[in-house]
Amino acid sequence: WYISASKSPNASPRFPILLSILRRRYDFINKGPLELIQDGYNSLGDIFRIQILHQSVVFLIGPQAHKVFFEAKDNQLSQREVYTFTIPVFGKNIVYDASPKIMQQQLKFVNKGLNLINMKAHIGKIVMEAEEWFNRWPDSGEIDLMKEFSQLIILTASRCFLGKEIRENVQTEFAHLYQQLSDGMSHLSFFFPNAPTPAHRKRNAARSKIAKIFEKVIKQRRINETIEYDDFLQVLINARYLDDSTPTDDEITGLLLAALFAGQHTSNITSTWMGLLIIKNKSEWMSNLLEEQKQIMDKYHQDLSLDSLSEMNLLHAAMQETLRLYPPLVLLMRKVIEPILYNGYVISKGDIAVVSPPIAHRISNVYKNPEEFNPERFLGENPEDQKEKFSYIAFGGGRHSCLGEKFAYLQVKTIWSILLRKFDFELCQEHPEPDYSALVVGPKGPCIVKFKRKIDSL
Ligand code: HEM
Repeated sequence: WYISASKSPNASPRFPILLSILRRRYDFINKGPLELIQDGYNSLGDIFRIQILHQSVVFLIGPQAHKVFFEAKDNQLSQREVYTFTIPVFGKNIVYDASPKIMQQQLKFVNKGLNLINMKAHIGKIVMEAEEWFNRWPDSGEIDLMKEFSQLIILTASRCFLGKEIRENVQTEFAHLYQQLSDGMSHLSFFFPNAPTPAHRKRNAARSKIAKIFEKVIKQRRINETIEYDDFLQVLINARYLDDSTPTDDEITGLLLAALFAGQHTSNITSTWMGLLIIKNKSEWMSNLLEEQKQIMDKYHQDLSLDSLSEMNLLHAAMQETLRLYPPLVLLMRKVIEPILYNGYVISKGDIAVVSPPIAHRISNVYKNPEEFNPERFLGENPEDQKEKFSYIAFGGGRHSCLGEKFAYLQVKTIWSILLRKFDFELCQEHPEPDYSALVVGPKGPCIVKFKRKIDSL
């Protein structure tokens, strides 16, 4: 690692990482890479680079620098080289392993599965699963929010994406196999996706078994063509590439897994942080959130639907604010294929370009009092995220921005709309730190809260 900073006119300023590590004693285990990136930004500005062994990593921080990252074409900044760790899980010829043309068409299939028509089908399923889940809670007690949401969200995601056949099976065999796939996506897998470890062996075996489960379901659906399904699996079975060929069973399996992985941990983590933040700040926000629930649910005759959810602006802002403070994807990366110019500096071919949502979301001249939980910053006439394009990047931006953003809002808002109306909550522990040991960053440790069912649920 380099020891000194340079300000050459061509290359972006280099952050003196080794020297800084010695001076500052970064707590990488507990704070991940964020302190280091923040220091780089504070001392060198919105573009700087860190040399890690042979790899030059260029950080772009702040709306203007993000523009370069998010507006680049795939043949300038490429995802495929940095997301190779997904290939053993998603499969061959799927998304990051497919040619750019095929990947684009596959992402269109995903988009179709998440469009408005399907969203209408999804909402009923999410409400049903969530109400059933929370009805099973006793009248009072303590629960680990993270554990609860992770189980619930695998059910909702399974019903909306994988179809009812898999949903019925989800708590048994599928859940176990899915866990083995998740365990095979660690930091080690990021650098060495095929290292011969027990976790990777189990991951590969689980992927083969899951493919067999899906093959059976797909075959049945192809035989019984008269039955109508409104889930993502059926969108993929009906999909056609531009040359009129259909995705293979293995491609369908891979795309379902891609959607599940993109949406499951991210939504689970966001639901958990959102609960913790609302409960922690309840003296300020709870009465307004409850008032909004009452007004809108009365207006819609207690029907939790796409329409009623879309009017819950404060709830929406609370989720957006949660994602500002705790975006689950903390580093978005691309390999530089063609040199890119920014602010007089060249980002060279072969570099890795990185943007960091949690750093971006705490820039104080974009977000006033950035450490404060204040959903209202996103409401009113001049919401803070609208001041400049690419200042809010929890869902990325540009051509590869998140395809599941609307679905995620739908799911997380549904969960908290039901919970706020049915239960009172209290915290039982200190606010947790983020857990940087995971690729998708959530709260560290258990997230226990006390709950009590309301006598007159709203
Ligand atoms: C991409 C965040 C939920 C599907 C992304 C990206 C981010 C993100 C930051 C951009 C990655 C990059 O630029 O490298 C989130 C968050 C979520 C969420 C914070 C929940 C709170 C979902 C859900 C789905 C989904 C529910 C549903 C299937 C996708 C897909 C992409 C993506 C397919 C790739 C888009 C492309 O490359 O063109 N997400 N996501 N996400 N997300 Fe999400």
